[in-house]
Amino acid sequence: MLILFTVAFLAGTVSLSLFYIQTEKRTRVAAEQATGGHAEAAQALMSHYGCGSCHEIPGIAKANGKVGPSLEGFAGRAEIAGLLSNQPNNLVFWLREPQKVSPGNGMPDQGVTEGEARNMAAYLYTLQ
Ligand code: HEC
Repeated sequence: MLILFTVAFLAGTVSLSLFYIQTEKRTRVAAEQATGGHAEAAQALMSHYGCGSCHEIPGIAKANGKVGPSLEGFAGRAEIAGLLSNQPNNLVFWLREPQKVSPGNGMPDQGVTEGEARNMAAYLYTLQ
């Protein structure tokens, strides 16, 4: 009886984690299709550009800055910096040229390329 229970419990745990992994993968694929970027490149790019010194970004090492808003749940936001609707091309524009979008705001232009912005945008849209 105990063995049966243990087996059933393990099977349940395994299928639940598979479900979880699949949902995560589906979210990533959708984010990558929407942006044309690769989410797995974001960790290296975000640490190169120091995004985490100003933002909390879940899943990115040492990203616990408090200068800008936390990017937790970013995919669900309606707007970017309260100015642009939260669409992939607007996010790419923001990441490349925040000073053009909102002159004088606290996020500097850092020479982010289009491809780099798409990779970071793909990651940001996985943050549900
Ligand atoms: C020097 C600090 C600083 C750095 C570095 C920085 N940001 Fe920002 N970021 C800000 C500030 C401040 C805002 C808020 C701007 C506003 O609302 O006017 C912001 C806004 C944003 C937003 C919009 C958030 C929202 O909820 O509307 C995103 C997305 C973002 N930053 C991503 C990044 C990424 C990715 C990087 C690295 C390439 C980065 N930031 C680097 C300070 C920074």
